[in-house]
Amino acid sequence: MTGAARGQGRSHALALARAGADVVATDLGRDLETVPYQLGSEDELEETRRQVEALGRRCLCRVGDVRDLRAMEEIVAQAARELGAVEIVCANAGVISFGPSWQLSEAQWDEVVDSNLKGAWLTCRATVPGMIQGGRGGCIVLTSSAAGLRGYSGFAHYVSAKHGVVGLMRSLAIELAPHRIRVNCLHPGGVRTPMGLSDAMQGQLAADPHANRALGALLPIDLVEPEDVSAAVVWLASDAARYVTGVSLPVDAGTLLI
Ligand SMILES: NC(=O)c1ccc[n+]([C@@H]2O[C@H](COP(=O)([O-])OP(=O)(O)OC[C@H]3O[C@@H](n4cnc5c(N)ncnc54)[C@H](O)[C@@H]3O)[C@@H](O)[C@H]2O)c1
Repeated sequence: MTGAARGQGRSHALALARAGADVVATDLGRDLETVPYQLGSEDELEETRRQVEALGRRCLCRVGDVRDLRAMEEIVAQAARELGAVEIVCANAGVISFGPSWQLSEAQWDEVVDSNLKGAWLTCRATVPGMIQGGRGGCIVLTSSAAGLRGYSGFAHYVSAKHGVVGLMRSLAIELAPHRIRVNCLHPGGVRTPMGLSDAMQGQLAADPHANRALGALLPIDLVEPEDVSAAVVWLASDAARYVTGVSLPVDAGTLLI
């Protein structure tokens, strides 16, 4: 589980632990220069470990940047030694920043695209060889966004990265089907997490009527809860979804129909 210090990542880790999984929890554990809100801390990552262990499951907890293949490979190798082969992969880590696309800096573009898209690829790059070698199949869940299926104003780099995650998912689903490894995308709408609730996100929505309207929920709620996205993760990872691969699954309270 990447981005496991808090938010959806922690929620997914706990939901999978409740369903019987041991968990590898990893997160950046520090802030990024161009991201206008605090990211998950090492203490929060430790708290995820404490909560997984309180459910009676094992948890390997390591700081790591999803943009760093060597770091990801080392975490996967340690996980294989301590917990056994990886069967479920959740590429959940992500960041957002804001600005009109013609005013974004290259640093903003790189941090958002690399964390959301390259990071999802490197997470798969580090885990898939062991899954193929293990021969037991598996499940990969890539966290895209409603912004992976339509355009929004004010964060074109994020929209581009999340669309890219869909392309990665579709290619991997084809490549990995012979190995009984299923690959799917989740597309949350606005979720009640530190990212969704950040002043930066709320300020962007207040200042941009288009994004504010288009990111609203169709169902009469304010924000989706992380646990509702986690329920979809647990289902996708379960045998109940054994023939589900290559799909884009919105958990967005209808945002995409607005
Ligand atoms: N919150 C929303 O409204 C929303 C909506 C749609 C999609 N998403 C996506 O859901 C996923 C989870 O986000 P969240 O809402 O829980 O936000 P969050 O900010 O609470 O959690 C994201 C976690 O990812 C970690 N992270 C960021 N960059 C990283 C990197 N390079 N390496 C390792 N870890 C890194 C952060 O430290 C943080 O702990 C993200 O991919 C996000 O883009 C969020």
